[in-house]
Amino acid sequence: MHPMLTIAVKAARRAGNMIHRASENLDHLTVTKKSHADYVSEVDRVAEQTIIETLLGAYPSHAILAEESGGQGDSEYVWIIDPLDGTTNFLHGFPQYAVSIALQHKGVLSQAVIYDPTRNDLFTATRGHGAYRNDRRLRVSKRKELADCLIGTGFPYTRFEHLDAYMAILRDMMQNTSGLRRPGSAALDLAYTAAGRYDGFFETGLKPWDIAAGCLLIIEAGGMVGDLQGNDTYLKSGHICAGNPDIYPQLLKVIAPHLTQGLKG
Ligand code: IPD
Ligand code: CA
Ligand code: CA
Repeated sequence: MHPMLTIAVKAARRAGNMIHRASENLDHLTVTKKSHADYVSEVDRVAEQTIIETLLGAYPSHAILAEESGGQGDSEYVWIIDPLDGTTNFLHGFPQYAVSIALQHKGVLSQAVIYDPTRNDLFTATRGHGAYRNDRRLRVSKRKELADCLIGTGFPYTRFEHLDAYMAILRDMMQNTSGLRRPGSAALDLAYTAAGRYDGFFETGLKPWDIAAGCLLIIEAGGMVGDLQGNDTYLKSGHICAGNPDIYPQLLKVIAPHLTQGLKG
């Protein structure tokens, strides 16, 4: 395992163990509202600090971009961290959430870890060396027809400027796939796409920490990732579409008629 991935795994497991312990005592958590339907708990913050301490303990000169504490440092190495992806699920005791950590080197995603503490599942990838769930190599699914596919997505729930376009896309997806799922953790949705559990995924308005690790997993599992037009601006725009190489263009085709100016690029 690449030494930087080893450290990222150590950080993710530490945070995951804290999250898992806290999930057994949800009634005692301090929860704060960030904005409409957007909550953060003390676990998100403490888990994030643990991850940052672990990473900077090994690589003090690296930079950080983390959901709760923002950016720090200036380096060609940037760690992109979501300490708890799926906070709403976590707060409700709904077991679908994960720790997500990615490393960007000179603007290119190079390492990825997504850790699901509820199942003790560790998803990892190093650019050029494949993607894994625990010890098993991951490959995207082989399905060729969208009509046979299970597709993951995320509903807008904090901001609604793209809601009409999203609903139009959803309506067409419902009629052109064999099922849609919205479990509530974009990081795990992307890991599941890499693992072939979904054949594809789309969502709007995500942040780099939601998707950085998952995107590298998909690429390393032989899949394709882009924005809703198939371009590579997804980390910046947060509008994302992914899938196996046969299904990805079919998803883009369903999405295309509904793209507003704000959903392009
Ligand atoms: C959220 C989850 C969710 C997605 C949201 C994200 P958080 O992350 O990934 O699936 O639909 O857009 O913000 O806030 O739980 O870290
Ligand atoms: Ca997130
Ligand atoms: Ca989060």
